Amino acid sequence: MPGAIYAEGLVKTFGTVRALDGVDIDVPEGTVLGLLGPNGAGKTTTVRVLTTLMRPDSGRAEVAGLDVLEHPNAVRRSIGLSGQFAAVDEYLTGRENLEMVGRLYQLSGRDAKRRAAELLERFNLADAADRTAKTYSGGMRRRLDLAAALVVSPPVMFMDEPTTGLDPRNRQQLWDVIKELVAGGTTLLLTTQYLEEADHLADSIAVVDHGKVIARGTSDELKTRTGGDVVEVVVQDRQHLAATEEIMRRLGDGDTVLVEHTRKLTVPAAGGAKLLAEIIRELDGRGIEIDDIGLRRPTLDDVFISLTGHAAEDEPPPGAGRADSTARSAAPAKHEENQ
Ligand SMILES: Nc1ncnc2c1ncn2[C@@H]1O[C@H](COP(=O)(O)OP(=O)(O)O)[C@@H](O)[C@H]1O
Ligand SMILES: [Mg+2]
Repeated sequence: MPGAIYAEGLVKTFGTVRALDGVDIDVPEGTVLGLLGPNGAGKTTTVRVLTTLMRPDSGRAEVAGLDVLEHPNAVRRSIGLSGQFAAVDEYLTGRENLEMVGRLYQLSGRDAKRRAAELLERFNLADAADRTAKTYSGGMRRRLDLAAALVVSPPVMFMDEPTTGLDPRNRQQLWDVIKELVAGGTTLLLTTQYLEEADHLADSIAVVDHGKVIARGTSDELKTRTGGDVVEVVVQDRQHLAATEEIMRRLGDGDTVLVEHTRKLTVPAAGGAKLLAEIIRELDGRGIEIDDIGLRRPTLDDVFISLTGHAAEDEPPPGAGRADSTARSAAPAKHEENQ
């Protein structure tokens, strides 16, 4: 039986851009799916299709057991949405914004007021409740946006990059609110560029890049797929990066990943400490000085780089090329069996 959020073969093109290139997802009721991917991966487009804001070119989707194309109004009544494009009215106060949402969802005036007050309290907005939203900081707007999505507790929630742009303290607070929400039985699809966030909140993770799900599993499963531990080397001198990369590629047990600006290289180490010793010997023999070397468990970051050849959070400055110039994989990624 399909889960509370289900999509099969979603395709959406904008001119020549294939924003979605056959996305399949299935989120069991009461669980959290983290849709993890860099800018432009297709996360928002997926959310827009699932929340009935956009029709796919092909594919189908069900939310709360309802077909999104056949019953968009019923779907809208079953979901909450917070995200980059959700509307906070700048000219209303925080309180008025939340009361308005309550009225839209047909709460009585009294209930709408009560719910607004509760949420303002909960999201640390009580002091600012009667100021217009246009005077709010970025973090306050995000909190108001999330509060608006929680005015009625919907069985299915979508959050599009809920913590992008928040400072660590506010991010932590939002994580706590999200955990409470999920503990109450809500099914949640959350998009994020932050590996740590997916690690923290999601029961399962779908890694998306270029409109495709390129891997899925729990955080642990994804880390294990990278092949056990990795050897990480930080070379002292940038000019030794190429030689070190050659050594690690030759001796290591998978794709070598080089991040130039941190002078850091990693390679999967199925052989564990034995490979570590070999690499140290070889570096020594060639007189290559290192700042650090060690064996460690892969992070979701390693997983992402090994899957896509670029870092999830390493965004290039506007106008520059992709992040491939700072992080690249020495060999093409070959983890495509899950598409
Ligand atoms: N309305 C649109 N018109 C044209 N291109 C779009 C539109 N929406 C998204 N795209 C393109 O589709 C791709 C996926 O975008 P999006 O789903 O917003 O990615 P993400 O949310 O993962 O950053 C990007 O290349 C983006 O530029
Ligand atoms: Mg987006």
